[in-house]
Amino acid sequence: MPSFADARALAELTLADHLPARWLHSQAVAREAIRLAELPEMDREPLVVAAVLHDVGYSPVLARTGFHPLDGARFLAARGYDRRVAALLAHHSGAAVEARLREITGLERFDDEVSATRDALWYCDAVCGPTGEPMTPDERWDDIRRRYGPDHVVTRSLDEAEPRLRDAVDRTRARMAAAGVATADAAP
Ligand SMILES: [Fe+2]
Repeated sequence: MPSFADARALAELTLADHLPARWLHSQAVAREAIRLAELPEMDREPLVVAAVLHDVGYSPVLARTGFHPLDGARFLAARGYDRRVAALLAHHSGAAVEARLREITGLERFDDEVSATRDALWYCDAVCGPTGEPMTPDERWDDIRRRYGPDHVVTRSLDEAEPRLRDAVDRTRARMAAAGVATADAAP
């Protein structure tokens, strides 16, 4: 498992100059993941490493297919990164739905784990806006729909994936409540 510091440095190298907003978003997702990593069911290192790296696939330095979850996962796998972290990237925030709608293959080579760690990564992505600002999941999903427009494949994917995203958010909130950790977003 790479250290969080090494993962953060790699994310900064690939994102900061090219996509500064995406880098701010990634740092916010990582900060939230660090908070959640203390919950009893979480696997700390995979969560925080995957969080800071989850959007590296957007970087023009490494983008190949144009589908960022797969490009990020393949990039890490090619560098000999921890397979579990690569798989968390590949499937983050319902990526399998968009892959199917875009007819992109390759995601199936990575396991979509069913775990509190995976739910937490999806949660963190749902409460951090495009420049890292805190949002509720509903604000976040509305913002994505607004930015891409109703006919875009990202919006159509979100429409289909939303129940799964909401389940991951709800399970994470329940784990936070049980451990006495406050939610970062304003929702009850
Ligand atoms: Fe993200």
